[in-house]
Amino acid sequence: MSVTIKTAREIEIMRHAGKLLEQVHDGLSKLIRPGISTWEINHEGEKMIRELGCVPSFLHYNGYPVSICVSVNEEVVHGIPKQDRFLKEGDIVSLDAGLMYKGYHSDAARTYGVGTISQEAQRLIDVTQQCFFEGIKYAKAGMHLHEISSAIGRYAEKFGYGVVRDLVGHGIGTCLHEDPQIPNFVCKSRGILLHSGMTLAIEPMIDIGTSDVRWLDDGWTVVTEDGSLSAHYENTIVISDGEPELITLSK
Ligand code: MF3
Ligand code: CO
Repeated sequence: MSVTIKTAREIEIMRHAGKLLEQVHDGLSKLIRPGISTWEINHEGEKMIRELGCVPSFLHYNGYPVSICVSVNEEVVHGIPKQDRFLKEGDIVSLDAGLMYKGYHSDAARTYGVGTISQEAQRLIDVTQQCFFEGIKYAKAGMHLHEISSAIGRYAEKFGYGVVRDLVGHGIGTCLHEDPQIPNFVCKSRGILLHSGMTLAIEPMIDIGTSDVRWLDDGWTVVTEDGSLSAHYENTIVISDGEPELITLSK
């Protein structure tokens, strides 16, 4: 599949899909506390998505069993919610959610501390979010894709963090995952030329320790090889001639 350029009408729909997903994340953020199960977070998230008249993008995607990816501590992404997995004080948890509205997807992830967390953990969360913002300084028509990738990777490396290489960001639209793939690390190649109307999900995944990850036997959950904490931050954006539009983040 090649990279798609969305029309103004398509972007209008995606803008709305993004706004609705932001509402879901706002609702999810209020649930985070010691003692809640990861299963309940998924249950509430799926309910919110459906009440907004949307379809959860992740449910049954390549067999993924639930609607919200809930990844705790050393889990990088694609954690599978469980009835007997409870958040505890000091954990960090990333919530990744996607929804489809009128045939178009939006995709966003946030990482939260549960109760009081270590300074080390908070810094990882903050730097991962800032990686996204460093990257999108280059998210503009006329720039090349890998300038975004390299800016993300350079910023994370300043802190000595591991940048996950086995998973990447992606184009998004009528499919959850469209071309191009968007690495989060420093690249030698320039990548494709960015055009107005491209819609991209930029999603740095950053580890305190090694960048190496492995997949658990459930076939989904990705964890850091060394067991160190990992954070994830993602928004869906629209490329234009000026500043990128962050459709899953209004504030
Ligand atoms: N944001 C994640 C991604 O782009 C969510 C996908 S989870 C899956 O890969 F279950 F749908 F695969
Ligand atoms: Co994504």
